[in-house]
Amino acid sequence: MQEKSTVLTSAFEQEVYDGLTAQPKFLSSKYFYDEIGDKLFQDIMAMPEYYLTDCEFHILEYHKERIAEIFTNSNKPFSLFELGAGDGKKTKILLRHFSEKDIDFDYSPIDISQNALDQLETAVTKELPSVEINTIQGTYFDTLADIGKSSNKRKVILFLGSNIGNLLHPQAISFLKNMQEVLNEDDLIFMGFDQKKNPQAILDAYNDKTGITEAFNKNILARINKEMDGNFDLDKFIHWEVYDPETGTAKSYLVSKEKQAIRISGLDLEVNFKAWETIHTEISQKYDDDVVAWLANEAGLKITHHFSDENKFYKNYIFKKKIG
Ligand code: AVI
Repeated sequence: MQEKSTVLTSAFEQEVYDGLTAQPKFLSSKYFYDEIGDKLFQDIMAMPEYYLTDCEFHILEYHKERIAEIFTNSNKPFSLFELGAGDGKKTKILLRHFSEKDIDFDYSPIDISQNALDQLETAVTKELPSVEINTIQGTYFDTLADIGKSSNKRKVILFLGSNIGNLLHPQAISFLKNMQEVLNEDDLIFMGFDQKKNPQAILDAYNDKTGITEAFNKNILARINKEMDGNFDLDKFIHWEVYDPETGTAKSYLVSKEKQAIRISGLDLEVNFKAWETIHTEISQKYDDDVVAWLANEAGLKITHHFSDENKFYKNYIFKKKIG
């Protein structure tokens, strides 16, 4: 491994440098997502094995009336914020229902990608012209402060897709705490949590035979090749998924099939792999009610409602600030 002599300009570069010089090696799944990664994730959400999307879709469709009752709290107006809105496909179920029922609300989707927000705004304006939409571009952490200041109406913060599962418990707690700090007593968080279930169903969801998840996992290497002038041969790595039913943690790895040396010119770095050495790339945490209640409590929140699909594969919980 060579000494670092170049100046690392982005967080991505710094994290690649740190992760590939660590023992054992790791990279963060947040860097799966460029234009190609976004498309691969859309393809994952459409796969029959990736049950999470269908489950949440059905929960929203089936429970939209009760959800509307809870959000409006006897016909009071509210502001709906959505973290990591993406294409808003699931959220549109709620938006459509709220607008059909003439509910007084406004919608602020938040995403790191301006492109995703522009597309969502165009789609919502066309399909649901009565919905007031104000897009906010930025990271969750930057934008939470703005949410806190923004509205004197009730705030409802949506965080769908079990995105929280990509965080380790301590990070999830600090993320929930950040949200808790911007809530007033009457505000709500509506969040999706994938549940513990037959381990085989989880392994199948993260290890599809068509290789879409494999391509998604390897996209981080493709990005390093493109953006940092690396020479990873993607065929020399395998995608490997494990699930620990005790902790509920699914973990993704890239495993080097042979001893090899990788050059990343943009970082002035050479990375040596032994045969079968790993890069840990993602966790996708699975939950049960006790763990969600524990996370909420640690963050100063309490669960007020929850909704599930008929198989109890997935749940959406509503949280409020714990008072006193
Ligand atoms: C975005 N996130 C919640 C997905 C998950 O289930 O962890 C990303 C994903 N990774 C592999 N498949 C989907």
